[in-house]
Amino acid sequence: MELNDQLKVWIEDINQYLKDLRYGSYPEELYEPIGYMMTLGGKRLRPLLTLLGYQLYHDDIQSVMPAAAAVEVFHNFTLMHDDIMDKAPLRRGQETVHTKWDDNVAILSGDVMLVRAYDLLMNIKDEYLKRAVASFNKTGAEVCEGQQIDMNFESRDDVTVEEYIDMIRRKTAVLLGFALELGAMLGGAHRHEQKLLYRFGVNMGIGFQLKDDLLDVYADQAKFGKQVGGDIISNKKTFLLIEAQKRATGEHKATLDKWLAATEFDAAEKVAAVTAVYDALGIRELTEAKVEEYFTAADDAFEVLKAPDEKKALVKNFADWLMARDK
Ligand code: IPE
Ligand code: IPE
Ligand code: MG
Ligand code: MG
Ligand code: MG
Repeated sequence: MELNDQLKVWIEDINQYLKDLRYGSYPEELYEPIGYMMTLGGKRLRPLLTLLGYQLYHDDIQSVMPAAAAVEVFHNFTLMHDDIMDKAPLRRGQETVHTKWDDNVAILSGDVMLVRAYDLLMNIKDEYLKRAVASFNKTGAEVCEGQQIDMNFESRDDVTVEEYIDMIRRKTAVLLGFALELGAMLGGAHRHEQKLLYRFGVNMGIGFQLKDDLLDVYADQAKFGKQVGGDIISNKKTFLLIEAQKRATGEHKATLDKWLAATEFDAAEKVAAVTAVYDALGIRELTEAKVEEYFTAADDAFEVLKAPDEKKALVKNFADWLMARDK
């Protein structure tokens, strides 16, 4: 599945805009990790969503670049802190900030990134500024809620699929919804249309996080750029693990129980053993079906949108490409 050429151009525009951004210089330990993180690459999904929401109603894409960049800077701030929380060694194929520097540097650099995200949002026209910041704040608090619930779930073994979906809606999906809503808002869309796009983005975002969980087990590490098996190592209650716990009996159940309870273990051995149980129980196919379910639900909200078909087609192309991604 190929991304539309226009969208590739917009990603390049976003990258160019991000490359020219300055966050500060002194002290170096505070600002250097920001430049490092922001230029490591990344798919730039969220700023692209802001552009996509905007182009449904207006053409001058450049005018929403600061707002789109705000969403990306915020996202990278959450990743910097998430990698501390998840003890992740790799991000986008390189060392994570807390590994390359240390936890304190990653905490503080992340903090100032959040401030810089607000600086970028300040470029929004007065007419929309208050509503945009209110919506951004609601989203930011939900992301933190989702992240805390995610941590709480690591030490629970009775997490339901419903609880998991609620957790990923907060930690991941609402930001995709917000990115689109923001674009539409700045494009002057009717409130009703903004809400439709938000709902579309949230459903797509749930499908996107389900796919991230799937890739965490089954991706090619060189492409994925993150440690494959990280979720298994830290007993993350992903859709995969919850379904495996529901389905496992006999040997499979004993294997899962043993590895979930293990405190001292060889990481590679645990990842291989749990993955083998997933394979035996058909968890991969089950998760793929769930990913599709949410992307299809997203499509439904999108069909009723009142925008030109060729503009809607770009959003549809993005969603199809996102669902099929392997990194
Ligand atoms: C990673 O997001 C965090 C999740 C919510 C799964 P992305 O997969 O968008 O990460 P980058 O920005 O492309 O690296
Ligand atoms: C991260 O979820 C969501 C946020 C950063 C808010 P993950 O922990 O699954 O993201 P990755 O896999 O590290 O990118
Ligand atoms: Mg993580
Ligand atoms: Mg995490
Ligand atoms: Mg993940």
